[in-house]
Formats: sequence, C-alpha cells, structure tokens
Amino acid sequence: MRPVQAPFPITRLRRVRQNPAIRSLVTQSTLSVGDLIWPIFVRSGEGVEEPVPSMPGVIRRSVDKIVDAAKEAADLGIPAICIFPYTALEERTEDCAGAWDPDNHANRAIRAVKKAVPELAVMTDVALDTYNINGHDGFVENGEIVNDRSVEALVKMAVAQAESGADIIGPSDMMDGRIGAIRQALEAGGHQNTLILSYAAKYASAFYGPFRDAVGASAALTGDKKTYQIDPANSDEALRCVARDLQEGADMAMVKPGMPYLDICRRVKDAFGVPTYAYQVSGEYAMIMAAAQNGWIDEDRAMMESLMAFKRAGCDGVLSYFAPRVAQLLSS
Ligand code: PBG
Repeated sequence: MRPVQAPFPITRLRRVRQNPAIRSLVTQSTLSVGDLIWPIFVRSGEGVEEPVPSMPGVIRRSVDKIVDAAKEAADLGIPAICIFPYTALEERTEDCAGAWDPDNHANRAIRAVKKAVPELAVMTDVALDTYNINGHDGFVENGEIVNDRSVEALVKMAVAQAESGADIIGPSDMMDGRIGAIRQALEAGGHQNTLILSYAAKYASAFYGPFRDAVGASAALTGDKKTYQIDPANSDEALRCVARDLQEGADMAMVKPGMPYLDICRRVKDAFGVPTYAYQVSGEYAMIMAAAQNGWIDEDRAMMESLMAFKRAGCDGVLSYFAPRVAQLLSS
C-alpha cells in the first residue's frame, strides 16, 4: 500500500518529526522488556563467574550463579532465559553422551532455575556441538555429518531437557526431520505443553565465532557447518525450512543471525504469521561492544537501535546478550 500524499509544500514529512510529543504519536514499533530472551552460559563448579573474553560483559556461570542470574532476569521483568552449556575439550566425547545426561550442568541449571524462579520461562539448546569432540551439531562419520542417527540423539537430548522442566525446547542443529521427531517424543512422554522454538532459518555464519569461544567449541570444531546450515546467499530456502518445521510441530520460528538477516525476518513473518524471533548472535554483540569500547559508537544507543530494528522487521521477540542491560534502560 502506497500512502496518498499531496506534493510539497502541502505535504511536509518533517511535520511528523517536529517534537517528542508528535514523534511519540507516530511511533510504529515498540520495544519492551517482554520481547527479550536472555542467553546465558552455564559451566561446572560452584561460585564460578568467568568472563568470556570475546564477549565483553558476558560471563559463564556455575549452576548456583545461574540461579542468581535467573532471579535478576525475573526482577527485571525478562520473561525467558536460554541456557547454553560450556564444555571443556577434555569433557567432550565422540558419542556425545553428555548431551542427554539428566545431570549435565545444563539440565541441573534448568531444574535449579525452575525451582527458584518458577515463573521465568527456560529455553534450551538442542544440538550436539556443546558435547561433541569435533564441535559439530550432529555425529560425524567418515567426515560426514550424518542426519538420522543425529536426530535420534537430539530427541534424547530434548526429552532430558523437558524432563528437567524446560519450557521451550530450542533445536539449533539444522538436521532434517528433528522437529517432528522431537514433537512426537514430547507428546509420547506427556510433555504436550512443552514449546518448540525452532532455529528454522539458521545460516552458516561467521558471526557465531565468539559463541563458539563461550561454549568451548572453537578449539574443537573441525571444518565448517555448510552441509547443514543455510548459505547466506539464499532466501527462499529459509522459507522452506520454516514451513517444514511448522508442519512438523514447531510453535515458534527463529531467524539467526539477526541484523544481517532482517530481510529474512520480514519474509518469515509475512509468509507465515507465526511467532517469529531473531537471535542477535555473539558476533553482532561483539561488534557493537568492540566499537563502543573504542569510543566509535554510543553503546546504549546502538544497542537499543539494533533491538528496535528486529521489532520493525516483524519479530515478536529477540534473543540478545544485551537483555538485562536493555531491561534496565527500558525501566529507567
Ligand atoms: C549451536 C549454536 C550456535 C549458536 C547457538 N547455538 C553456534 C553454531 O551453530 O555454531 C550461536 C549463537 C551465537 O553466536 O550467539 N548449534
């Protein structure tokens, strides 16, 4: 729809920008604390808070400290956190058995958070890369990332998370058929209210670098993820992935990374009208922080503008490492 407008000077578009009151009346998008999902990293130990060097301001926490972070999130009004485990190289195995261990530190963190802060929604990560000796999201056989055997493992991992009390299962692995398999297992296991937020449109991106440091996957990763994550040159393929995951039982869809893929956010929202999320990934966070720390951009303004862009592009919410800082700013 093209707006009808008379020629200048009858129409002066600056009229609607002349002061804060008028600008407020014509504001189209809003960013609120209710839009935020805060990704946090859990590690072993007790009383541990360990900075992630490539993500200034982001820390890995032991389970007890995750509970503190969860309380902080709830106090700020953040509706959900997303828990990612850090696993050292020597704790990683080829069979990835740690991934579905009910007592791995991610599952212990889920239980501890749901006990201490039951009203806070807990989202998980379903992928083998945080347990795999070679850093891949699926099993590797003779250099190939195999699909169907990986899906079986991912199902076990998702069920263990649901049994630990997770509210939202987040498959980020990009294997084919995993959403349907997970949904079926959740239904069969009495977890019919557990949501699936599918990382449906996930690209093979350079912007995940700092995250791989954060979870201990950088040193482990052999090769790249191009046989399962989407080529950044493609757009229609992302829509096919979202359509497929919705058909298999995903409740919500994610586009990842965020800011370089706002066109995909818009297409997904327009095409399907489902709850749509973007992941403002580690590299996006690191870029803003690095520039701000050099005094090259205003950190708070760049942070808020980057998040507003997701809302404008049609997203219902955003996963962002900035979540607690944004929540603080929004309430001040
Ligand atoms: C694991 C996973 C990744 C991210 C979230 N889940 C990394 C990857 O696919 O290599 C990246 C998040 C970020 O960069 O902030 N499958």
